[in-house]
Amino acid sequence: MGQLLPPMSLLLLVAAGMRAADLQKAKLLLDPIWDRVLRRDSVTLKCQGAHPTGNSSTTQWWHNDSLIPNEAPSYFIAAAEAPDSGEYRCQTGLSALSDPVRLDVHTSWLLLQAPQWVFQEGDPIRLRCHSWMNRTMHKVQYFQNGIGRMFFHNNSEFHIPKAALKHSGSYFCRGIIGTKNESSEAVNIAVQATSSISAFFLPWHQVMFCLVMGLLFAVDTGLYFSVQRDLRRLVKDRRSGKVTWSQDS
Ligand SMILES: *[C@@H]1O[C@H](CO)[C@@H](O)[C@H](O)[C@H]1NC(C)=O
Ligand SMILES: *[C@@H]1O[C@H](CO)[C@@H](O)[C@H](O)[C@H]1NC(C)=O
Ligand SMILES: *[C@@H]1O[C@H](CO)[C@@H](O)[C@H](O)[C@H]1NC(C)=O
Repeated sequence: MGQLLPPMSLLLLVAAGMRAADLQKAKLLLDPIWDRVLRRDSVTLKCQGAHPTGNSSTTQWWHNDSLIPNEAPSYFIAAAEAPDSGEYRCQTGLSALSDPVRLDVHTSWLLLQAPQWVFQEGDPIRLRCHSWMNRTMHKVQYFQNGIGRMFFHNNSEFHIPKAALKHSGSYFCRGIIGTKNESSEAVNIAVQATSSISAFFLPWHQVMFCLVMGLLFAVDTGLYFSVQRDLRRLVKDRRSGKVTWSQDS
């Protein structure tokens, strides 16, 4: 039994280590959700993360790796300008630094927006043709790889209820603002097959846990059989009167 304790304590150590590494990252969200905006658009960045109890602790914000003088849980950009472009990160009192979130401020009349640029098969795709200062637009058309996919007399979002692989490609939109015929820049949308995804997205610590458990089981099983074999040999040797271990000395 004494031989089984070290693996058990190793297991406890592994479990404790996993808990420490699990200090959750803060989550940075954009509101509205668009990660590319036009000049003068307003954007609110929100930081979600645990705070120490009994202290409404501050939130720290970084823009392109320099600290922003803002300690509130959200950061409001009233009228975006080009220098607001870049990577943002945040952290609360009891969270790890968030993953970076990119915001790009564009200077143009039209901008194609989407909640994300990579979709899984079956996801809904939502495209928005955003005009500068929300100017009224007519005859709005969405294009995929240069081919017109959707036309609206007025400006509307283009929704694809279930993404399929054929929806990957380069998209832009076009419309009439006043008397001007304007087009957005093209952006790429990728639709990925779902079948191969689940295997890639298993959390690494679950994989590690299974590996460690498997290893411990193998070690314990090995110990068990080797002890059993030794005991059996000892019993057999004693029965047959052989004292093999004392022959050398
Ligand atoms: C709360 O947090 C602030 C900033 O982190 C700190 O200066 C202050 O001493 C804390 N207050 C308490 C009661 O822990
Ligand atoms: C477009 O908007 C105008 C007013 O802005 C409205 O009269 C018209 O019915 C709308 N057309 C469509 C197809 O929704
Ligand atoms: C806008 O311009 C494109 C060419 O750049 C043209 O094909 C299209 O018909 C124009 N749209 C309207 C509504 O005039």
